[in-house]
Amino acid sequence: MADSSSRRTKFILDEERIPTSWYNIAADLPVAPAPVLHPGTGQPIGPGDLAPLFPMALIAQVVSQDREIEIPEPVREAYRLYRPSPLYRAHRLEKALDTPAHIYYKYEGGSPSGSHKPNTAIPQAWYNQQEGTTRIATETGAGQWGTALAFAGALFGLEIKVFMVRASYDQKPYRRMLMETYGAEVVASPSLATEYGRKVLNATPDNTGSLGIAISEAIEDTVTHPGTKYSLGSVFDFVLLHQTVIGQESILQMEMAGEEPDVIIGCAGGGSNFAGLAFPWLGQTFRGGRKYQVIAVEPEAAPSLTRGVYAYDFGDTAQMTPLVKMHTLGHDFIPEPIHAGGLRYHGMAPLVSLLKEHDLIEARSVHQRASFAAGVQFARTEGILPAPEPTHAIHTAIDEALKAKATGESKVILFNLCGHGHFDLSAYERYLSGNLEDYEYPIEKVEAALAGLPKV
Ligand SMILES: Cc1ncc(COP(=O)(O)O)c(C=O)c1O
Repeated sequence: MADSSSRRTKFILDEERIPTSWYNIAADLPVAPAPVLHPGTGQPIGPGDLAPLFPMALIAQVVSQDREIEIPEPVREAYRLYRPSPLYRAHRLEKALDTPAHIYYKYEGGSPSGSHKPNTAIPQAWYNQQEGTTRIATETGAGQWGTALAFAGALFGLEIKVFMVRASYDQKPYRRMLMETYGAEVVASPSLATEYGRKVLNATPDNTGSLGIAISEAIEDTVTHPGTKYSLGSVFDFVLLHQTVIGQESILQMEMAGEEPDVIIGCAGGGSNFAGLAFPWLGQTFRGGRKYQVIAVEPEAAPSLTRGVYAYDFGDTAQMTPLVKMHTLGHDFIPEPIHAGGLRYHGMAPLVSLLKEHDLIEARSVHQRASFAAGVQFARTEGILPAPEPTHAIHTAIDEALKAKATGESKVILFNLCGHGHFDLSAYERYLSGNLEDYEYPIEKVEAALAGLPKV
């Protein structure tokens, strides 16, 4: 029989070990990122260009080259509500797969809103409150980001307005109710609340929405309401930065387990939970340490990293955001209404795209039925019901574990279980009743959207 330490299931850090700083990968990047460009002039933007949208403290983080950026004490204090998050060894999944691989997962679903998103919602709300913002507008895809910001707004006394992608608004009424319970105002996007939303609805009354459209609406709302700033739950460098608490904790926890990962996996919509787990490990590699196989997993219906082009594009549909160089399917591309709403985005974080372009990470794509199958297998062995987004990471972790079984290798696999799926049961019901459909990669739609890329 294995001794009790080799059967250890949870690796728990004390509250005192919540990281004191975020890890800024800009300090260690082996390749230089492309500048962010002004959408009107095509010239590199300066801090002043972002000031209407974000508080200065966040803008300073984007340009910082410091490896460590201190986490303000009130933010660490709020992190105590759910951090450090546990690292689990998936003994039961390993047994079901009959694999020699060791599988670990960092579980971010125990936060009050159910995912990794409060890791950045809390500091964004706090910095805004410090600089006098009274109201924040945002978009949400799956509803997880909107819930996290609604929770953070409640912590720091801010009004929150959420533009929720229509497909998710209809699929997940309980997400909306939770946001409203935290005190946020939620509208389905495209909405009648903005000029851009009205224009979209006029042209396409049945539009199921997209993150690109919802971002445009939230930015329009921001610039037309005094005292309001804009907040986003992914893609931007400072969001990825805040998520690095995940990876930093996982390094300490893998040490407790006495192992080092060979493979590191995260699902990727805009790239923040993936980066949050992977960047601190990649930083060790870039500073001369061991190399890990790092895999970002996206849906076949919105495969920006695996099939998109690496080019300058807008982050939103109405072309209001700065131009960023990223893997994109074109800002006009509206992904099919897959249930992993948080992965329905046309682009990818510039930092994640940069690493992929230079082969410093890998990317894969998975169909939704296959990822739900992995999610169900995970729930039946480990007990936690995953959100549809991280089922993509689980699918790849299982794939890698089965490869290890075929070759007899004793690989160590680490993945990010970035949220629970308690509000996604209607999607599980569709899967279990055989009514969940796969969407083929829509090549014509993507080609049409790519034709609209800005000329830079
Ligand atoms: C649970 C969950 N996972 C993943 C994502 C995708 O975002 P990101 O790639 O930034 O982690 C979302 C976004 O809404 C989400 O809610």
